[in-house]
Amino acid sequence: MHKRVHPKRPSSEPARTRSVRRGVAARRALALAGIGGAIAIVALITNSSSARGGGQTQLPSTIADFFQPGTQPDPSEQTLIPIVPAMNCTFCHSEYGVEVAPYDTWVASLMAQSARDPIWHAALAIANQDANVGGETCIRCHAPGAWLGGRSSTGTTDNFVPDDFDGINCHFCHRAVNPVLGEGSAIGYPGDPAEPDVPIISALQKQGLIPEGAGNARYIIDPDDNRRGPFDDVPLNLHGSETKLITSPYHRTSEFCGTCHDVSNPLYSKNKKGEYVLNALGSPHPTQDPMDMYPEQRTYSEWLHSAFPNGVAYPDGRFGGNDPDGIVSSCQDCHMPKVIAGGCRFAEFGDPWFERPDMPQHSFAGANTWVVQAIRNIMGAEEADGIGLTQERIDEASARTVLMLQAASDMTLSQKGSALRVRVTNESGHKLPSGYPEGRRMWLNVKFKDAKGAVIAERGAYDSKTATLQAKDTKVYQAKHGITPAISKLTGIPAGPGFHLALANKVFFDNRIPPRGFTNAAFNAIGSGAVGYSYADGQHWDDTNFPIPSGAVAATVTLYYQTTTREYIEFLRDANVTNDAGQIAYDAWVEAGKSAPVAMDTATLTLSTGNPADLNGDGAVNAADLSILLSNWGAGGLGDINADGIVNAADLSILLSSWS
Ligand code: HEC
Ligand code: HEC
Ligand code: HEC
Ligand code: HEC
Ligand code: HEC
Repeated sequence: MHKRVHPKRPSSEPARTRSVRRGVAARRALALAGIGGAIAIVALITNSSSARGGGQTQLPSTIADFFQPGTQPDPSEQTLIPIVPAMNCTFCHSEYGVEVAPYDTWVASLMAQSARDPIWHAALAIANQDANVGGETCIRCHAPGAWLGGRSSTGTTDNFVPDDFDGINCHFCHRAVNPVLGEGSAIGYPGDPAEPDVPIISALQKQGLIPEGAGNARYIIDPDDNRRGPFDDVPLNLHGSETKLITSPYHRTSEFCGTCHDVSNPLYSKNKKGEYVLNALGSPHPTQDPMDMYPEQRTYSEWLHSAFPNGVAYPDGRFGGNDPDGIVSSCQDCHMPKVIAGGCRFAEFGDPWFERPDMPQHSFAGANTWVVQAIRNIMGAEEADGIGLTQERIDEASARTVLMLQAASDMTLSQKGSALRVRVTNESGHKLPSGYPEGRRMWLNVKFKDAKGAVIAERGAYDSKTATLQAKDTKVYQAKHGITPAISKLTGIPAGPGFHLALANKVFFDNRIPPRGFTNAAFNAIGSGAVGYSYADGQHWDDTNFPIPSGAVAATVTLYYQTTTREYIEFLRDANVTNDAGQIAYDAWVEAGKSAPVAMDTATLTLSTGNPADLNGDGAVNAADLSILLSNWGAGGLGDINADGIVNAADLSILLSSWS
């Protein structure tokens, strides 16, 4: 029998389990029970398991189809002790600096809020509509505490206990075990010669549960309540006499993050033609190799096949925090930058605790600038403060995310004949953007100005009132996933790009910019190649040419990032026939400002006012320019001298009339 060692909750802490009053309007219930709670209540009323979209047939998948190796759930909690709530770590790991203390930074991150995220709840409902118990796999990654406790078999959050909404919490991460024995395996501390991973790994080996390949939340969790972390010099273990402090080099590796940051759909297998076909339902994926499954997210694999595993130098020190050498490699280097601080609040008082030069900030800043604020809005200030999700912490986190987005790219402008060339260079450690494909995008906004400074033409205009992007006349960076005719036939959902995540089996388009060290061969093999677009090996930038309209003397270009498009949030609202999760997400999106685009880069170029018909900029209008114009006939781009979006007879006549 394992004892449950829960450090005593200090009296100053707000109690999480304060009585939950029910029976009020959905919004009020949300504020009290946490987002998941309210949705669970609604789901119960509407009987989610039989619900499906208008005319849509639910895929008859079973729990077996989603089986993955790794530690398995233990509803009885006999062999696996429950995940300890993050609140139990606050007494020592919080409130000694809003920018450094692990709890203060973690709580305002998407990792902490992955099970309260209203967009996730909305997408979870769709996943269950699309595929029977399709949500089980989502819970495994977004709410690992619930999954390990065996509260996910319905695919919904109906059986969650309040602490399950803690998302990916302290105790979960700090109990994770390296699946590979050897380098990176944990070493006991202090002075403990036993290798703590060996019995855990061999027990799973006997059951055939050691995961091969990255992703899909195939984590291995220490059955005991130990704490694994990077340091081997913690002066005193204050975690309780039953709790070992274990030094774990694994926690400094990208492989650790790769446990969840590659997402593959096990319903599908890749055939010889590279297409994804549905497995015979009712049993686990035949190979259990994630690279044979449908590639929903490939952030870890993109990183693995980039230049970053060998280290990349940033002389401007934009990533890594207090890391002195300016060389970054792992996910942690960029997403948990080093700060000078104590690992616990006692460092304030000095001896025997000390400030560390390499305390990893638990900020996990990525690209999402609005959802954490929306969670506080939905919960209400009082309840959000109760879990430590304070406005101050959210403001700090949003500011970090904006800085992250600004560090992600560099943009340069130049003039090439009658065209403005915009180059966007990916400075991140994976594709730009990476990760979750649905509703996320970057685009270029170009404003051409005349001598008086007035805007005479705009490309990629965005109307923030209606959240509508003029996408046709600019470059939009995005991935589009969807379903093939075969899956359309089974489900009644139209074939083509869409937002049915649990069913998607074809990448229709992907022009996201590759990272340093990219090769087509490696990215095609991991299922993250360019689709409907092309990049040369090593090319970690992209160029776009915009025809310069006559009269333009300057151009201002801005690269924008948006987390949640109107098209996606409307889908989540309208496709939901199960519960209120889609409407709640939509309302939250509206209230939080419709996922306002973030400017990643902005620059202005003064344009030389040459002859706009001199397309190649060689000083003469001649046959070479004519041939450029004809090669783009009927399309946009170079040759569109009057900048009306199409190369046609009007442009030809301007060119001929200025023939040198
Ligand atoms: C009673 C105080 C106390 C509580 C409660 C507490 N810790 Fe700690 N913890 C410490 C101290 C002190 C350190 C050492 C910090 C240092 O040396 O920088 C530490 C260090 C750690 C480390 C780093 C270990 C290493 O080797 O790198 C981890 C991981 C950790 N704690 C996890 C947790 C988790 C998870 C919880 C909540 C479930 C928790 N702690 C609750 C006091 C506490
Ligand atoms: C060189 C620094 C760097 C490294 C290394 C790095 N990242 Fe990032 N990451 C960024 C930046 C900058 C962004 C914001 C731009 C973007 O969205 O891609 C980001 C964004 C993200 C996002 C959000 C993506 C989106 O657009 O939705 C995730 C998730 C992420 N990173 C995870 C990881 C993981 C996991 C690893 C390791 C396998 C990793 N990152 C390695 C810099 C890095
Ligand atoms: C996503 C997984 C993850 C979560 C969630 C997480 N940590 Fe960590 N933590 C890490 C990793 C990884 C490191 C080591 C990073 C490095 O050194 O580059 C670390 C390091 C630490 C350290 C060592 C720093 C020191 O100076 O002693 C402490 C303490 C710690 N975490 C406590 C916590 C607490 C408390 C929470 C919850 C509020 C938490 N962690 C949540 C992954 C996590
Ligand atoms: C148990 C699975 C799990 C592990 C392990 C994990 N992540 Fe995450 N991570 C998630 C999920 C799920 C989300 C998205 C939550 C959401 O948006 O609702 C996320 C979100 C993020 C984001 C925010 C993305 C954005 O759009 O802003 C970053 C950055 C990130 N993780 C980095 C890391 C790093 C670095 C590590 C390793 C130290 C790591 N993660 C380990 C599951 C995990
Ligand atoms: C193996 C881990 C894993 C699994 C399984 C998983 N996700 Fe995620 N999910 C992530 C990560 C990591 C991110 C964040 C990536 C990023 O920010 O780019 C994420 C992000 C999301 C987001 C974006 C949230 C936001 O605020 O924009 C939604 C929605 C989502 N997931 C829904 C689902 C659904 C529905 C399922 C099940 C069908 C699922 N996820 C299964 C890891 C996972």
